Amino acid sequence: MPTDLNTKERDEALKQIKDEVLVLKSSPLYAERIKNGAFPVIGEGSHFAEIMFVGEAPGRNEAKSGRPFFGAAGKILNELLDSVGIKREDVYISNIVKDRPPQNRDPLPEEIESYGPFLDRQIEIIQPKVIATLGRYSMVYIMQKFGLGAQLEPISAAHGKWYEAKASYGMVTIVPLYHPAAAIYNQHLKGTLKKDFEIMKKFLI
Ligand code: URA
Repeated sequence: MPTDLNTKERDEALKQIKDEVLVLKSSPLYAERIKNGAFPVIGEGSHFAEIMFVGEAPGRNEAKSGRPFFGAAGKILNELLDSVGIKREDVYISNIVKDRPPQNRDPLPEEIESYGPFLDRQIEIIQPKVIATLGRYSMVYIMQKFGLGAQLEPISAAHGKWYEAKASYGMVTIVPLYHPAAAIYNQHLKGTLKKDFEIMKKFLI
């Protein structure tokens, strides 16, 4: 993958990912998507984003609309972005798993394996300086991907810290955060997430 793609090249490379996921019959979730008449959720936002958010997998509203964080968890994510003055369209929002697991269950290892390479490619194309992971699955995936596996802790300890790592295109900061869905009915956790989110201000240019 060449570094520093221009706008057109980024648009095309990201569109290519969408086209491939759409026909990803080898995915364990493909048949489920087709059965439900649902959409894959690839990601959205700026193709030049400095900050990328990585969630787990789409839920019902996301699979219905094809847009990430479009339901209740998305409402919280939007509030958090607002609280630190970040516009949703200026960041890139994606997930590890691009299709909805049945009943919103946790993603299985084979699903992460099937969709992870698409997330890897999104990162290579967009080249974010900061990757904020939402929830423990994306924290584990991203920290392992960037050689930080030895520093992995439970999310209850890692949330709100940040880690420097080397990407193919330069340095990247990894910020593990709780998943916004966990804050829907838990005001205490919502407060923690809001406080952790303040870190993002440090990375605004
Ligand atoms: N939860 C996620 O992890 N991703 C979404 O897009 C929505 C809910």
